[in-house]
Amino acid sequence: MPVITCIEDLRQLARRRVPRMFYEYADSGAWTETTYRENESDFTKIKLRQRVAVDIDKRSLVSTMVGQPVAMPIALAPTGLTGMQHADGEILAARAAAKAGVPFTLSTMSICSIEDVAEHTDAPFWFQLYVMRDREFIRRLIDRAKAAGCSALVLTLDLQVMGQRHKDIRNGLTAPPRMTLANLADLATKPRWCLNMLRTQRRTFRNIAGHAQGVDDLRALSSWTNQQFDPTLCWDDVKWIRDRWGGKLILKGILDAEDVEPAIATGADAIIVSNHGGRQLDGALSSIRALPAIVDAVGGRTEVHFDGGIRSGQDVLKAIALGARGVYVGRAFLYGLGAMGEAGVTLALEILRKELDITMGFCGLRDIKKVDRNILVPGTYPS
Ligand code: GLV
Repeated sequence: MPVITCIEDLRQLARRRVPRMFYEYADSGAWTETTYRENESDFTKIKLRQRVAVDIDKRSLVSTMVGQPVAMPIALAPTGLTGMQHADGEILAARAAAKAGVPFTLSTMSICSIEDVAEHTDAPFWFQLYVMRDREFIRRLIDRAKAAGCSALVLTLDLQVMGQRHKDIRNGLTAPPRMTLANLADLATKPRWCLNMLRTQRRTFRNIAGHAQGVDDLRALSSWTNQQFDPTLCWDDVKWIRDRWGGKLILKGILDAEDVEPAIATGADAIIVSNHGGRQLDGALSSIRALPAIVDAVGGRTEVHFDGGIRSGQDVLKAIALGARGVYVGRAFLYGLGAMGEAGVTLALEILRKELDITMGFCGLRDIKKVDRNILVPGTYPS
């Protein structure tokens, strides 16, 4: 077993343990992957100010996101097919998040269903919603999330059309994988994954199969989802969803300051600055470059959350310094999950927590709630 020191170590291990089509589903972006890469590389251009001889004992990472206490301002992002990185992946990740005192967000496109995750975990989780044409199905999904005690709804606005992901097309992505010769050859090298997957019944999109009309087998399901994402989605639909849901609402996918006013007008409790991890509009700004202008446009009227490119506690601190109230990690926890199951998600969160804590100390601060642009070297960050 290799020594794990950072998220990159977990990524390397996941690459060896997870079947290629699911590893690459997570570890890829749309088209040329330029935005995907810049989400990470733009973080490295931002420099931190090292401060010395100030009392940095007893540091605190405790904060809140949409009014809910968090042990550190990090949530697990909604990621599709999490239960294909590791058997029962959503349940394992939700448990690890609860133990670490951070929110877990369940994707509409999850393998474990809302009810299943609720039944097998103790802490309330957040639910991410995609708007489909079948509004009756959306109503039922919202009601199911309510009945399961979900404590926030994360509404994704940037996937009404799909970005083209070349690796998924080449790999012929399906869940579960089709038994082609190439897939069988790959699976033969991933015995641990296969064994765990044989022990579970959770192998397809269980939020949808059996819940949406006419969807009971997988082939019908994949074509159904492609046809179902609703390209007519507009702000009035968001208000309708807000009213139906009635709880904490978070809007995901705001990347342009001009979308801030209508987003705030919905009364949302937070917006997430996000380019969907570089998986949608290739050529869009990296999330961290987009963040400051959105924070300025919001002017404190709602919480600004952030995702895209976070692979370390240093990255978390930079996003918080630029005005994010909290951040989401997707791939960083998926690598942990694929590498080592629940223990790997716990380890990923522990790595991020330690890095965040120590880096805050180096910057001469003790309280994450007091972090602002002053900890960054002027001229090195986008404004
Ligand atoms: C779904 O959210 C995806 O990005 O694949």
